[in-house]
Amino acid sequence: GLLATLAFIFSPQPCFSYNDEPLLYGQFPEDFVWALATASYQIEGAWNEDGKGESIWDRFSHEGNHIDDGSNGDVACDSYHRYQEDIELLSEVGVSHYRFSVAWTRILPQGTGEVNQAGIDYYNNLIDALLAAGIQPMVTLYHWDLPQALQDRGGWLSNESPDWFDEYAAILFREFGDRVNLWITFNEPWVFCVLGYGTGEHAPGEKDLAWNPYTCTHNVLKSHARAYHRYHDEFAAQNPTAQIGITLNVGMALAANDAPETIAASERDMNFNMGWYAHPLFKGNYPQVMIDKVGEKSEAQGFPVSRLPAFTAEEIEYIKGTSDFLGINHYTSGIVYENINSINDVSFFADSDVAGFTDPTWYSSGSSWLKVVPFGLRVLMNYVKNEYDNVPVYITESGFSDKAGNTDDLGRIYYYKHYINNLLKAVNLDGCNVKGYTAWSLMDNFEWARGYSEYFGVHAVDFNDPNRPRTSKASAKYYKSLISNNGFVE
Ligand code: NOJ
Repeated sequence: GLLATLAFIFSPQPCFSYNDEPLLYGQFPEDFVWALATASYQIEGAWNEDGKGESIWDRFSHEGNHIDDGSNGDVACDSYHRYQEDIELLSEVGVSHYRFSVAWTRILPQGTGEVNQAGIDYYNNLIDALLAAGIQPMVTLYHWDLPQALQDRGGWLSNESPDWFDEYAAILFREFGDRVNLWITFNEPWVFCVLGYGTGEHAPGEKDLAWNPYTCTHNVLKSHARAYHRYHDEFAAQNPTAQIGITLNVGMALAANDAPETIAASERDMNFNMGWYAHPLFKGNYPQVMIDKVGEKSEAQGFPVSRLPAFTAEEIEYIKGTSDFLGINHYTSGIVYENINSINDVSFFADSDVAGFTDPTWYSSGSSWLKVVPFGLRVLMNYVKNEYDNVPVYITESGFSDKAGNTDDLGRIYYYKHYINNLLKAVNLDGCNVKGYTAWSLMDNFEWARGYSEYFGVHAVDFNDPNRPRTSKASAKYYKSLISNNGFVE
């Protein structure tokens, strides 16, 4: 059957059959990072309190027709007022790190210019309380909530955006840099460039799939490199062991068969989605296949120039090497083959000429895009090891959704058990350089265009109660046991 076929495809590498493979018992390296994650707009609420400015997600959700359940993040988990409760949950699970993001609009309500001290105070209090509880902060600068004032000036399509980001980043480094050891500039730039500016499913809701994703990404890569250099030139001295990187969303594109054109389609898929960012950062410049295809196709379609902007030689050098580690958000994998039918489409999705499907035996989740494919994580870690010179990797998100938010969440336990066990195999059997694992999420929260209809938390939140009480799910206890064993014990 298909499982045997998949196992065959990945030989002579270790056998990657699905869920019938025995667990590996053993521990992660001693300094392995165990974390839980959230993001500002998804949990904080207090959307217009204490001087905070309006973000594109405030605007987008208030417009009324973009979020499945008509909801918004006005209150969300109310973590702006209840972060102490969040820290108690983190302590109970026993994580070493908490990954959260800073709301740009709390720091700079208009995006640039005047600084809002109340916003600085909030994150200072959060960081100090975390450290007092023995938990290290892992701080994301940008998790999608761009100041609306900057969107009004073009957002990530503006070539001024690297200046704005640099100004914002410098403030965070100056204010919090003495206590933060792990910085992440951008969370999932693919998602906000493609869904925010391409399909319009996310804020700011712009729809232009032929051009915008490429323009956005070009500016984001420049912005990232500016922040990286700013940090290492001016702020690293106060905290010499601190590291700064980026987080990419990466699903593994498994080849449907071993025909050379199928293998090439899988590589193209990885290059168009991960390499789009990772190649400029770790190798220098966009993947050649993107330069070839988007350029050629653009001209064939009658566009005057390549839709993929070109970096100058100086820019290539300036961007290369600007990520001390690679953050990866990994949830799922897909099976891909060549898509000869897409040849006349002009859109980011068609540009790679790859078609995707899933295996009917894969378990489902509460999200249409999320199938449970534990071995895909191991394949991905091996891919990254080989493609990017075994760069240090942090899994900065990984998790399972359901529709219920119930506390006997066995599907989530199954997911963490098998994904983390495949990670252990990647580290201990395959020599992959993985430094940490982060579960998404600390608690149920606002799931973007899905609102409060899909839940990823290891804690439930009662969104009907103004006090937003949190309750631990079975998966929180399971994750706690993995952390306290630092792996799997017999
Ligand atoms: C990745 C995003 O970073 C996060 O915000 C989102 O909630 C999860 N994926 C689940 O979709």
